[in-house]
Amino acid sequence: MTAIDRLVASLDLKQKVRLISGGGTFRTSAEPDLGLGPVVTSDGPVGVRGERWDETDTALLLPSATSLAASWDERLVAELGALLAAEATRKGVHLLLAPTLNLHRSPLGGRHFECFSEDPLLTGRIGAAYVRGVQSGGVAATAKHYVANDSETERLTLDARVDERTLHEVYLAPFEAVVEAGVWAVMSAYNRVNGASMSESPLLTEPLKGAWGFDGLVVSDWGAVRSTEGPGAAGIDLAMPGPNEHWGERLVTAVEAGLIPESVIDDKVRRYLRLAHRVGAFDPSPAPRPTPTDPAVRGLLRRAAGAGSVLLRNQGGLLPLDPARLRRIAVLGPNAATARAQGGGSAEVFPVATVSPLAGLRAALPPDVELLHLPGVRTGTRPTPLEAADCRNPRTGEPGLLVRYLDAEDGELHTEHRLSGRVLEPSVGTDLTTAETVEVSAVFRPPVGGHWRLGVIGLGQILLRADDRVLVDEYVVPESDDPTYLHVSPSYRQVELELPAGGEVTLLARRTVEAAHGRALSLAADPPGGPELAAAVELARDADAVVVVVGTTTEYESEGFDRPDLRLPGEQDALVSAVAAVNPATVVVVNSGGPVLLPWREQVPAVLLSWFPGQEGGDALAELLFGRAEPGGRLPTTWPGTEADVPVLDTRPVDGVLDYREGLDVGHRGWLRAGAEPAYWFGHGLGYGNWEYLGLELPQQVRPGEPFTARVTVRNTGARTSREVVQLYLARPDSAVGRPVRWLAGFAAVTAAPGERVELAVPVAARAVQHWSVADGSWATEPGAYTVLVGSSAGELPLSSALTVH
Ligand code: BGC
Repeated sequence: MTAIDRLVASLDLKQKVRLISGGGTFRTSAEPDLGLGPVVTSDGPVGVRGERWDETDTALLLPSATSLAASWDERLVAELGALLAAEATRKGVHLLLAPTLNLHRSPLGGRHFECFSEDPLLTGRIGAAYVRGVQSGGVAATAKHYVANDSETERLTLDARVDERTLHEVYLAPFEAVVEAGVWAVMSAYNRVNGASMSESPLLTEPLKGAWGFDGLVVSDWGAVRSTEGPGAAGIDLAMPGPNEHWGERLVTAVEAGLIPESVIDDKVRRYLRLAHRVGAFDPSPAPRPTPTDPAVRGLLRRAAGAGSVLLRNQGGLLPLDPARLRRIAVLGPNAATARAQGGGSAEVFPVATVSPLAGLRAALPPDVELLHLPGVRTGTRPTPLEAADCRNPRTGEPGLLVRYLDAEDGELHTEHRLSGRVLEPSVGTDLTTAETVEVSAVFRPPVGGHWRLGVIGLGQILLRADDRVLVDEYVVPESDDPTYLHVSPSYRQVELELPAGGEVTLLARRTVEAAHGRALSLAADPPGGPELAAAVELARDADAVVVVVGTTTEYESEGFDRPDLRLPGEQDALVSAVAAVNPATVVVVNSGGPVLLPWREQVPAVLLSWFPGQEGGDALAELLFGRAEPGGRLPTTWPGTEADVPVLDTRPVDGVLDYREGLDVGHRGWLRAGAEPAYWFGHGLGYGNWEYLGLELPQQVRPGEPFTARVTVRNTGARTSREVVQLYLARPDSAVGRPVRWLAGFAAVTAAPGERVELAVPVAARAVQHWSVADGSWATEPGAYTVLVGSSAGELPLSSALTVH
């Protein structure tokens, strides 16, 4: 009997079930009999939000998953993972709910930014590096959402129909890779796969716990356990959050009635205790390990943002810009002054501060360089919560807002001073069970006059007042039953009111507190529109260089919904075209988590993708634009030219079914199959070097089931030291089984000085030449001739050679 078996044997059924039924929103129950504390969880993957959803609980903010994957740099990602582990420890978190390993099946996927790539190999390798990094710090990583949760429309119920071979070779493959890397937890998804809800799916046992030998914990997605016996008998080990009405008492009863064998519960508890042991939850007083807050951490986050940024185009070598030759630079676009550092949804964290592109560029330029800014256009329709800089607390006069929690007689139970008009929860340790009303107020001084849009976000009985004028007074009911709706996209009301510049107005938002509708409340104000586009173009006209920062916001890229289209929101395309027409030295920075259409891309000399770059994005951008660092990224997903060309676009299930009919041909494989040309291929990215592909050497013969190594010779013919990501693809034109036109089989990076010629090894795993045999239910190798293709993207492969597998 192992030590864990002894612990399991010492517990009665109720104790066992309590451990695996969740204890709170983000924690499990303690078991004093075992000296075991609760296991505390937190969302990621860009940071460790902590148990609370509150702007006062701040966290380091990393670049989005798309950016991490774009680095194609496992060492860097592992380093970031270790930083997250330190963050988790600082916040008392044992289990980080990340990484997200679903694939970029359609570019419209709402959580695209939160997933790494369209490619199973790249996702698996970057995911494994993330897991190794996090777990090196004694914190569990959670591979989620197992499996085929690749889009958000009807995510709680959709049935993904995926053929068995595709499931193994494409969608399960990244999970298999992180299990092999030793991940301690896996999160089951909300959706169904081939008819079975993932909360009860046989895939939880086979291949996960069987063939792959996963010995960790399967945790449900939040609220995904929606019945007792099915998930109780299946591979889910822990239902979150708790208390869960279907487990707990009902699960005890089901076991007592003989509907579920107690041995099944024992296995869940064993896995739970193993995880608790791994993350130190048995240790009542873990040694505090504060996160390093020194400049090295900011430096790492800045380096990461640069390493993931992808230079798509650089005509005439416009980039890097030479600051010594700039007298005046225009920094335009809606995402220039407002840092759009992350996507929305459960992945959101609250950074202490973010560096906007404008702030980063200003800090990097000598004071005598004139920097002109206008947003030019507006994006977003949801109200923008007030910020401390624009208002003051009506009671104390400090910059910020006053929040009050009131009882049934309007008696004040608790007050708080806040720096943001977005108030999701009261501060920690405050017992407000008797609160019936929450109120947010501020004295607002509009910086410009005109028709302001004043807004209130919240549910229940809502009131919005400006001085004595009642602007909104109505009962607002929720429009969705998605678990993240309250946090991510709750209903709002907005009213226009003319306000003079500099005049003061006291704004007040108020709502009833209701168990079903929470108590989140936001007070918002959006400035009047104006003829800004033309004014921005005027600023561009006489500048020595123009940087236009366009992109999306959390309103477009978030959880619980997919994007309706791939266009840049608002009039951003018009802004870029108009600016490019008056100034040839225009750089467009695209600040989005996933692909957007760039219809003007041939009109501008330089296009750089920053993704959602995390808290240090603005400083990283300055380093790249002024050549102090190189944009290191390569596309982790294919960027289309038009929506009509995208092989898999639609994410709407038909009668509840989402048919993965493209099979193995996900991402660039789909483009290759269709013979279509995207705007930019998977793997594309320029950096500041220039590479010649000179030679490829392969072993004469490879035996089935054996890895091999290709030797590739490249030369940096550019004028700067640079890093290149050398990609290796395989093809098998006369295959007896259906295959993609070609598929990524390996990659390796190399750094070389100008003129330097380097030979590098590109390892290829045995799996790359295997396919899943449905007949045998196992991996198989087809002997014979394969073609090896090597180059810098799925569409640019200058080297090729034959490989015989025998
Ligand atoms: C998301 C998960 C997340 C969980 C907890 C769910 O709605 O799908 O990714 O970890 O909420 O916030």
